Amino acid sequence: MHRHHTILVGMVAALALTVNATTCNSTNPCPASAPCCSEFGFCGSDDFCLGGCNPLASKSLDSCMPAPMCQDATHTFADNSRILTKAAFFDGNASAYDFVVDKGTIMNTNSSGGELALLLTKDNGGTRISSTRHVHYGTITARLKTGRWGGVVTAFITMSGIKDEVDWEFPGSTVTEGQSNFFWQGVIPDGHNNGETHKGISDTFANYHDYTIDWQPDALTFGIDGKTVRTVRASDTTDGGVVKYPTTPARVQLSIWPAGIESSPPGTVEWAGGMINWDDPDYKAAGQFYTLVKSISIKCADPTKAGKNITSYVYGGNSTKDTPSVAFSNQTTLLNGALSVGPAGTTVNAGVALAIAVSLLATLTIL
Ligand SMILES: *[C@@H]1O[C@H](CO)[C@@H](O)[C@H](O)[C@H]1NC(C)=O
Ligand SMILES: *[C@@H]1O[C@H](CO)[C@@H](O)[C@H](O)[C@H]1NC(C)=O
Ligand SMILES: *[C@@H]1O[C@H](CO)[C@@H](O)[C@H](O)[C@H]1NC(C)=O
Ligand SMILES: *[C@@H]1O[C@H](CO)[C@@H](O)[C@H](O)[C@H]1NC(C)=O
Ligand SMILES: *[C@@H]1O[C@H](CO)[C@@H](O)[C@H](O)[C@H]1NC(C)=O
Ligand SMILES: *[C@@H]1O[C@H](CO)[C@@H](O)[C@H](O)[C@H]1NC(C)=O
Repeated sequence: MHRHHTILVGMVAALALTVNATTCNSTNPCPASAPCCSEFGFCGSDDFCLGGCNPLASKSLDSCMPAPMCQDATHTFADNSRILTKAAFFDGNASAYDFVVDKGTIMNTNSSGGELALLLTKDNGGTRISSTRHVHYGTITARLKTGRWGGVVTAFITMSGIKDEVDWEFPGSTVTEGQSNFFWQGVIPDGHNNGETHKGISDTFANYHDYTIDWQPDALTFGIDGKTVRTVRASDTTDGGVVKYPTTPARVQLSIWPAGIESSPPGTVEWAGGMINWDDPDYKAAGQFYTLVKSISIKCADPTKAGKNITSYVYGGNSTKDTPSVAFSNQTTLLNGALSVGPAGTTVNAGVALAIAVSLLATLTIL
């Protein structure tokens, strides 16, 4: 009944075609020469070690850069100045940008105080933004308008380095439903069905709604316009003695992506409402499909209070069965950490430049 993890599978497959690099997973972690396993399962250094880096598939649990810690915020989009348009240029400074564009194209409609538009065209393969900070439990609300086109999926999710994931997804063939879902370390255990459909939302394309992911250590709650529509208790996710519940620091991601295309598995195409019609009048008129984001608010709920000088999260040995521990740290999140006391913008690092070149190539085909 349950679809496989289409977003990730699609990204990895696309990347494998174009980048000849060492692949990694938890049974084949990265070597010391390229210690970080990127979100797409390739070994590298520098920006491979930033957001999305998988500690369990990297050289060691501390190979990935410490993840910038959560900060309460309401992000609005009067302009896009807080969004870095190329994730590959990100240096880990979460004070400089709230989001990075992993792939695709953004716009600002500048109507009624500003709206962020994420675009999908036949050529760009969709758009995804990720928060620069991680959330280690918290309440996240996205106020957005979805697409309304079969095969086009709008998504608002949280995703950790080890692929603990919580989703709101909107297949575009209907504008009155949303789907909630969650994954533990990239999987939904056999026999479990973590996905649920929530009906009766008033036109999700025409109207802004608030979609909430309230992720707490003991329970995960999904809400629409302030009303709870689903609660999952962590204890309900126990499978073979392991609590298969998201527990690791995650980035907030919003995306519009093409599920109804030739390269998608048939089940994914069907789930998304069929093949995309690139002759759709909306597409012809606008030159693109899009989703509009009015605001994203984040209320952190770290299970313990951060002490002085804390800046980041790091992974440690397993705390409970098959679940890595997460701790606060005061280590820098910057790739050029050693230079972090110097004035901004005065350094160029050859390693970073190389990594940027590599990931620009990678960026062409992700998602
Ligand atoms: C891990 O990577 C190795 C080498 O690429 C591959 O043979 C193996 O199937 C992968 N394991 C998983 C679980 O994907
Ligand atoms: C990080 O970004 C902030 C805001 O742009 C800036 O003030 C600060 O100097 C930057 N830090 C470093 C180390 O570049
Ligand atoms: C956005 O709209 C306001 C008026 O509503 C205008 O003053 C401003 O220049 C516009 N900004 C951009 C970037 O177009
Ligand atoms: C925080 O940083 C300051 C300045 O580096 C240092 O003096 C202080 O001891 C640190 N506090 C803690 C609790 O680590
Ligand atoms: C960072 O934390 C370590 C202990 O974890 C402490 O010894 C050190 O003083 C801290 N540094 C700062 C600048 O707070
Ligand atoms: C720790 O958990 C991971 C899964 O997150 C598992 O693969 C690994 O075997 C565990 N290690 C130990 C020592 O239990």
